Amino acid sequence: MADSKMARAHETAAWRKLQAHQVQLSSSDTRITDLFSRDPHRCSALTFDCGHIRADFSKHLATPETLSLLTELADAQSLPQAIADLFNGTLVNNTEQRPALHMALRGLDVVANPGIRTAVDAALVQMETLVSAVHTGAWQGYAGEAVRDVVNIGIGGSDLGPAMATRALRAYHQGSVRCHFVSNVDPAHLHSCLEMLRPETTLFVVASKSFTTLETMQNAEQARRWFIARADDRALAETRVHQHFVAVTANKEAALAFGIRDSQIFPMWDWVGGRFSLWSAIGLPIAFAVGMPAFRQLLAGAALVDQHFASAPLAANVPVLMGLLTIWYRNFWNAGSHAVLPYAQDLELLPGFLQQLEMESLGKSVCRDGETTELATGPVIWGSAGTNGQHSFHQLLHQGTDMIPADFIAVARPTAPDNLVQHQHLLANCFSQSRALMTGKSRQQVLDELHAEGVDIARAESLAAHKAVPGNRPSTTLLLDELNAFNLGSLIALYEHKVFVQSVLWNINAFDQWGVEIGKQLSKPAFAALTGDDAAAQSLDASSQALIRHCLHQAGSKE
Ligand code: F6P
Repeated sequence: MADSKMARAHETAAWRKLQAHQVQLSSSDTRITDLFSRDPHRCSALTFDCGHIRADFSKHLATPETLSLLTELADAQSLPQAIADLFNGTLVNNTEQRPALHMALRGLDVVANPGIRTAVDAALVQMETLVSAVHTGAWQGYAGEAVRDVVNIGIGGSDLGPAMATRALRAYHQGSVRCHFVSNVDPAHLHSCLEMLRPETTLFVVASKSFTTLETMQNAEQARRWFIARADDRALAETRVHQHFVAVTANKEAALAFGIRDSQIFPMWDWVGGRFSLWSAIGLPIAFAVGMPAFRQLLAGAALVDQHFASAPLAANVPVLMGLLTIWYRNFWNAGSHAVLPYAQDLELLPGFLQQLEMESLGKSVCRDGETTELATGPVIWGSAGTNGQHSFHQLLHQGTDMIPADFIAVARPTAPDNLVQHQHLLANCFSQSRALMTGKSRQQVLDELHAEGVDIARAESLAAHKAVPGNRPSTTLLLDELNAFNLGSLIALYEHKVFVQSVLWNINAFDQWGVEIGKQLSKPAFAALTGDDAAAQSLDASSQALIRHCLHQAGSKE
């Protein structure tokens, strides 16, 4: 990893050349469409296959010189060495003195630590045993009934990844159990989930690496209370909690103290970050939904991308190019946000998952050595499934004042082939949106159209500026052959490695998240104030005190 002696990215010759190059591109008003006209091979030169995902980077505001300068910058920041360090288990998470070895969960052999392989294999066998027992009905609840519903209680990385992947693989659900996800401490979340379930046929997975996270602990305790209170035979249920609760955690003692049996505690390790953990037993709900063979396919798809990332040259390395292009727009074009637009309803939870992956990893203002960074870092990640966005926020993508780079994610072969026409409409819209962002529509084109429609000249002139679309807005298209477990694994791993690339170029630690701690600390006196502790209330700012006073007044419990 970059140490303090290495020049920061913005101090390198490559950075200065990129700045000059950006000025030249913008002052000459270079258009992406011109780049296509100049080079008939542009599309093929900038399209790369990684497993069963085709990455088309040709709709970027990037010339061959741009890409060569970006890879020069990556070399200057020793990206190849940083990737090697990541894979060989170096303590890349320097503030917590930990490696980041999520790749080991999907097959990477960490030569320096062969025990990891043994532990990962054992956890997969443990998962296999539970999933098979639940699917066959061999696992029974306290009343001798098979499990029908699995409720995952977790938050952040212990929720978003499994929820997203379970949703994405809807077409492969085996149907023997239904998976539900409860994350929010808002009691409405757990309540709305449990109101349709029976304790006798429900299995809870308490997923928490730390087993101390407030939301998860509150929900788990409430779930246990519900299980006993709503059981047909409360007395018996109280003695059989262990038949309805399993845990995934690195804090075994806390899970045991909760009442979960040793054999039903699945491991987590400090070398796996929460947002990189869906490949571990945190992925149990995925396995419950689609079965262990498909779960292993998910791992295999990610492993393929790991190999690609570790071995492909920078200029043909898909996650490297994804990361470098984000640097290009963030640092040289001042793009503050990045849209993720899956044209697949089953990928509707992908933007939310990527928000944690990218923003918790890259939302940093200090370099690895603690110095304040002089560079803009992680952009805001946002988006939703197409085509819905076309009827809401795409207006801003097309005509707003900001350049917002976008990732379009599409699936070539439909999951439900019985309605090919709708799938063709979906693809047509996806490809047309990226095209529209690129080409735009000039004022003259608008005038010509209006004239052809017979609109009078004065009206046409007054409308033209409103109807013109600037275009020249960049996008990547990621085209999956099919949405299946293998390709989903590849897709997620592409983004994981993209995040790492950006962190290396920005010289920040992608694997810690200290910023989230302040909110956890400050919620304690606020909670105390809400429960009537006047001294705690006095310690708060005037605004918080007034808001809390109003809540207490509304609840009729104080004032
Ligand atoms: O508060 C942030 C965070 O620590 C995330 O990084 C993590 O994914 C989430 O909380 C849940 O943590 P845990 O799995 O320990 O409950």
